[in-house]
Amino acid sequence: MKYSLTLFGTLAVTTALISACNDSSSSSGSPPVVQTPVELCDGEAASPERLFLQQLSHDRVIIKWRSTNPLTEASTICFGTNPNALPASSETAATVTQTRHSEAVLTGLSPDTTYYYSVGGAPTADPKHHFRTAPVKGALPSDGNIRVWIVGDPGTSSSPVLDSGDNTDGQARGRDGYRKWLEANGGEPTDVFLMLGDNAYLDGTDAQHQTAVFEMYTDTLATASLWPTIGNHEMGSSGLSQADSVALYIPATGLPDLLPDSPMPYLNIHSLPTNGEAGGVPSGTEQYYSFDYGNLHVISLDSQVSVRNSANLQAMKDWLLADLQSNTSDWTIVIFHHPPYTKGSHDSDDALGGVDQPIFDMREQFNPLFEQYGVDLVYSGHSHSYERSYYLKNHTGLSSSFDPQIHTELANDGEPANGQDDETYWQTTATGDDKVVYTVAGNSGQATGMNAAGPHPANFYSTGSDIGSVVVDMDASTLTARFIDEHGDVLDHFIIRR
Ligand SMILES: [Fe+2]
Ligand SMILES: [Fe+2]
Repeated sequence: MKYSLTLFGTLAVTTALISACNDSSSSSGSPPVVQTPVELCDGEAASPERLFLQQLSHDRVIIKWRSTNPLTEASTICFGTNPNALPASSETAATVTQTRHSEAVLTGLSPDTTYYYSVGGAPTADPKHHFRTAPVKGALPSDGNIRVWIVGDPGTSSSPVLDSGDNTDGQARGRDGYRKWLEANGGEPTDVFLMLGDNAYLDGTDAQHQTAVFEMYTDTLATASLWPTIGNHEMGSSGLSQADSVALYIPATGLPDLLPDSPMPYLNIHSLPTNGEAGGVPSGTEQYYSFDYGNLHVISLDSQVSVRNSANLQAMKDWLLADLQSNTSDWTIVIFHHPPYTKGSHDSDDALGGVDQPIFDMREQFNPLFEQYGVDLVYSGHSHSYERSYYLKNHTGLSSSFDPQIHTELANDGEPANGQDDETYWQTTATGDDKVVYTVAGNSGQATGMNAAGPHPANFYSTGSDIGSVVVDMDASTLTARFIDEHGDVLDHFIIRR
C-alpha cells in the first residue's frame, strides 16, 4: 500500500486527502492553504555492508552500495528533506556496475540542504543516512565553516603485518582521535573527506578496501562524500607499484580477486568525476580530477601511475594548469600521495630514479604551478609520519639546498614564520599569493618513525611516533589546519588569513 502525508505530517490515504482538500478550498474567507498530499515510498530498508557517497556537489550526489548477498541487493533509493516522509517521487533506480556495485545518481538537489535517504526505498530514513549538499560555488555553508577531514596511508587494518606491535589497531585509534576531538569541540560534522592513498594495504584489493575503508569509516562515508587519491599500494603488490598503467594491477597473491577487479579495484570502487561533474575543468580520467565545495577548490593528482609515463605526466600537468587558471575559489587544496619534502619512512632526497621517483617529479614539475597559481595547501602521505612545512616557495632541490631566507615566509624576527600566534600566514603578500604549506600526513594507520637524517629543514613540525589525522576548517577569511593525534589532542596547527 502507498502511504500519503499532508504537510502537517498526518498519515492518510491519498484519495481521502485529495477529497478533504477539495472540500476546504470551497469555503469562503481568506485563501485556503492547499495541503498537497505526498505519496510516500513503500520499499524495504536495506543495510548494505558497503555504502558511500561520491561526487557530492551543490545539486547532485552519487550514492553507491554493495551487499554481501547479491540476492537481497536493494535496487532503488528514496530521499527527501524529512527523514520521516520520503516522497515516492524521489524514488531513484540504481544501475549495477561490473563489480556489482549499485549506484544511484540523485539530481536536482537544492544547495546547502540536508537530505535523508533510504537504500531500498523505505518511507523513512535511518538516522545515520543523510548528507548535506555543498553550497553554491564561492559561498559558505549556512554554518559558516567548511570542514575537511584528511586521512593518509590509513589502510593498515586490512594487513595483519602492519596492524601489529606499536601500530596495533592504529587505524581505529587514529580515527577515534578525530572523534574525540570532535566531541570536545562542538561536533561539527565533516563536509569533505579526503584520503591520501595507501587506503587499503597491502595491495588495494576489493576485500582490503572493505576492511580498511568501508568497515572503518562507515558513519563518515554515509554522510560525507569521499574523495581519494592513488597511492602505491593501490597498484597491487610492491613489485608492481612502479607500473605506469592501471591495467597492470595484479594483487600480491597473484590470484584474481573474488570479484572482477581488473584493471584496478580503486577505480572500480570509486566513481570519480571525469567531466567536471562537481566543478573544475574536466580531466577526462578518474585518476585525477578536481571539484568545488563552496569557496573551496580541491584537486586530486595521480602521483603514482600517471607521472611514470612522460606523455601522461604532461597531460596531467596541462590539465592542472587549465584547472588552476580557471579557479576563482578563496581556498585551494591539492592532494597526491608522494610527498615533496619528507624525512620520514621515505626520504625526498633519495628517490631519484627509483620507486619513489614521483617525489622528484612532483616537487620539480608541479610545485612551481601550485605556487604560481594560488594553491594554499598540499597534502601527501607515503611517509608514515606527520611533517608540516613552513610557508614555502621556489624550493625544488634537495634538502641541502634549502635556505629559509629564500624559500620561506619570514616572521618579524627574520626567522621562518611558523603559522601560529603572531606568525600566522597571509595568503596574499607583497609578492602575491605565491606560497604553499606542504604537509605529509601519512600516519593515519601507523607511525613508523623518522629518518635518522631528519627532520627535513623545510618542515616546521615533524613527528614519526604519533598516529592521527588532519582537520582543516575555513570560512571567508581564515583557514585553520590541525594535526589531531589518537587521543584527540592537537599537536600542530597553523593559520592562513586572506
Ligand atoms: Fe604507505
Ligand atoms: Fe605509499
